[in-house]
Amino acid sequence: MEFTEISKILSEKDGKASIHGWIHNKRSSGGILFLIIRDGTGLLQCTLKKDKFDKKFFEEIEKLPAESLVELHGMVKKDPRAPGGYELVVDVAKIEQKAEEKFPIEKKFQGPEYLMDNRHFWLRSEKMQNIIKIRSKFLLAAREWFVKNGFTEIQVPVIVGAAVEGGSTLFEVKYFGKKAYLTQSWQLYAEAAIASIGKCFTVAPSFRAEKSRTRRHLTEYTHMEAEEPWCDLEGTMKTQEQLLTYICHYLAENAVEELKHFGRESKELLAINPPFKRITYDEGIKILQNKGVKVKWGDDIDWRHEKVLSMQFDKPFFFTHFPKGIKAFYHKPDPAKPEVTLSADMLAPEGYGEVTGSGQRIHDYEELVKRINEEKLNVDSYKWYVDLRRYGMPPHAGFGLGVERVIAWLLRLKHIRDAVLFPRLINRVYP
Ligand code: 4AD
Ligand code: MG
Repeated sequence: MEFTEISKILSEKDGKASIHGWIHNKRSSGGILFLIIRDGTGLLQCTLKKDKFDKKFFEEIEKLPAESLVELHGMVKKDPRAPGGYELVVDVAKIEQKAEEKFPIEKKFQGPEYLMDNRHFWLRSEKMQNIIKIRSKFLLAAREWFVKNGFTEIQVPVIVGAAVEGGSTLFEVKYFGKKAYLTQSWQLYAEAAIASIGKCFTVAPSFRAEKSRTRRHLTEYTHMEAEEPWCDLEGTMKTQEQLLTYICHYLAENAVEELKHFGRESKELLAINPPFKRITYDEGIKILQNKGVKVKWGDDIDWRHEKVLSMQFDKPFFFTHFPKGIKAFYHKPDPAKPEVTLSADMLAPEGYGEVTGSGQRIHDYEELVKRINEEKLNVDSYKWYVDLRRYGMPPHAGFGLGVERVIAWLLRLKHIRDAVLFPRLINRVYP
């Protein structure tokens, strides 16, 4: 039996069609049963007239619980009242599988923890459908931009021997009697790869044993990272603003409905264009102090500070030149002002805060060894990484972008957990 996908019906069809799918919703009125059918490609209103069916069969289908599977054959008709503009007038129906009573997801309000425990069912909601589609389109757009601009996609290990972003958020794994860790970033491997294939990028999970519960931290997230040889801080900022602009414009044109579901208008995303504003850490500290925030030069900028700063903006911007003391060992100190580094975070506006971390790396052997010692790290763990500097290491820079962070901002989500299918949080590895 050939079935037509609902998305096809909604985009092009009048005439005979057969569909199958889940009963998403239903109601009866005046001898007509309205079924909203979901088939993974869309939702379609289907109508069954009581007098066209065997009485017993009609009663059976009328009583089917939500999420039962049905097969429906009939005529597609334009109907401006139907969601999507079309409906299927059914003349033959078949029950594929009767679901159990009481699907755990109901129309009435159900609290966030309950929905998290039932995430495997909550995925079927229109909210999650839209988020999943946005994720897919986001990654498609990003890959398109990277490939058009000469970047090669590569994969590196997730199981690693040493920290990239500091030991406090490392997940340890037992590794045949030795200690290993889940990676925080591909970066060290990427710096090896640029000497092989030049500009490269990846989309891979990164892990952070974040001890705090916030609205913007996952313990496992999707990390989009890129690295470029002969590139400086300004160069990587240019890459990031072009990439993000491309993604925003792509979504504005190709995900209009999904964005609308979250109250984000395409024109807001089309208004995002390079260059993004750049403010230095020094300027940022002054802005915060003027707003009455208790913070002094040298302090780490956490999400509370970022919130205050990013409320001032309606477009993404860069926050640059962080002090050495609050950045990882690989960041290149600014030759013009050695107490700060050639680093930049991109912050999303509207209170969202950091969405990328980036910077120029130390490419000189002696300088890197000195920084590793200053940070009291074990030089042996980084031997191969340091050795890269002995055989042709140009100035280079790169960034890491938190996919869920950007999506949370784009869709104005209250919590980052909703930007991912099955969130991993400090208190959650189920389902
Ligand atoms: O700022 P981070 O720690 O930078 C790095 O890992 C660099 N090595 C990247 C690079 O230069 N290749 O992390 C990069 C981004 C952050 O800006 C944030 O968007 C995201 O990763 N991120 C998280 N997203 C969700 N949950 C968490 N716990 C995250 N931690 C970082
Ligand atoms: Mg960071």
